[in-house]
Amino acid sequence: MNAHKIADSLFCVSADIAAGDLFEGIWPIPRGVSLNSYLVKGKKTALIDLVRDWSQAPRQIGEALAEAGEAFETVDYLVLNHLEPDHSGWLREFRARNPAAEIIATAKGIDLVKSFYKLEQGLRAVKDGDKLDLGGRELVFFETPNIHWPETMMTFDPASGTLFSCDAFGSFGALGGRVFDDEYDDRELAAYESEELRYYANIVSSFSLFVERGIEKLLPLDIKCTAPSHGIVWRKNPRAVIERYRKYARYSKGGAENAVAVIWGSMYGNTKLGLDAVLAGIEAEGVPCSVCRVPDEDVSFALAAAFRCKALVLAMPTYEYAMFPPMAYVLDIFRRKHIFGKTVLRIGSWGWVGGAKKEYEAAIEALKWESLPSVEWAGAPTAEECAVLAGRGRELARAVKEQR
Ligand code: FEO
Repeated sequence: MNAHKIADSLFCVSADIAAGDLFEGIWPIPRGVSLNSYLVKGKKTALIDLVRDWSQAPRQIGEALAEAGEAFETVDYLVLNHLEPDHSGWLREFRARNPAAEIIATAKGIDLVKSFYKLEQGLRAVKDGDKLDLGGRELVFFETPNIHWPETMMTFDPASGTLFSCDAFGSFGALGGRVFDDEYDDRELAAYESEELRYYANIVSSFSLFVERGIEKLLPLDIKCTAPSHGIVWRKNPRAVIERYRKYARYSKGGAENAVAVIWGSMYGNTKLGLDAVLAGIEAEGVPCSVCRVPDEDVSFALAAAFRCKALVLAMPTYEYAMFPPMAYVLDIFRRKHIFGKTVLRIGSWGWVGGAKKEYEAAIEALKWESLPSVEWAGAPTAEECAVLAGRGRELARAVKEQR
């Protein structure tokens, strides 16, 4: 991998993780993901954030460091903005190669260095506003707790105006050698944005309050380059990704888009028949829909769609007196990821007898949803039932429009 020059004596050294693995052991990454570290050189040298031993990331970073004339063995400081193991998992191996480097993190971060990696020596805790003098260059630290873990901080290089933001302003998607925003055309950036939103919904959304606080804290900085630890480095338009993150944070508190996320599963097509009627009703009102079938599509995509949209349609059959199991899993994830404040329509077919209703109502109790009356039917929906379903679709779409 290459070292990508951001400014004088400042490089992005990045590793691409192949598609097909799972991020955090849960979330699919069909376009891969990047782990970005940064090399800052004054008289002394700092490496900002590390990697774990995943898809040969240490080798990739080592090759990029070599291209910039450095190595894991030669850096004087290792700054760990965040201790989640995607950015720190290789720490013991790093320490074995470089016993002298000082490891810098917040006080909570240093606690995690000790508990995760059993290291005790050469550790320095920093706090908000502390500086690291590299000799001719200074790094400044800003505590930004809970973006994404409680110990998180960001690092700023005033000389270049580069903000090393770790998880914040990051995205899924490997870089394939193109690190900077100006190396992508508009179509590619639009496609990238959907993965950015999915990353936010999957990883960061529970911490949206802290994202807003962090952004307010950082805005006074003269940011000329936004350099996250996952995804594109934003040097042409460094504020755009910050503004998108601010928008995503608003999704968490009623500011979601005027659209409907339709999440559905069907065993033999009868729930699908009813859903088609609902979709026709929504379409007649001209409200955009995003449709996701489970379990065919991973819950990661359903979560991103639900997070983005004001309203949901949840279509599922009753399965053995309870909810269709893939939808039960979706709702469990929604509860864990705080998908609050949606307007929701639940529909579904049953075979012998209903049963999804009771389990569903218990599952959504904590989510503070505004629910339209559910529609359930035996077997295949009749023409009358389809008319009711289409009407409910229209009603849901109008509710979305009225919230504008
Ligand atoms: Fe990329 Fe929260 O670690």
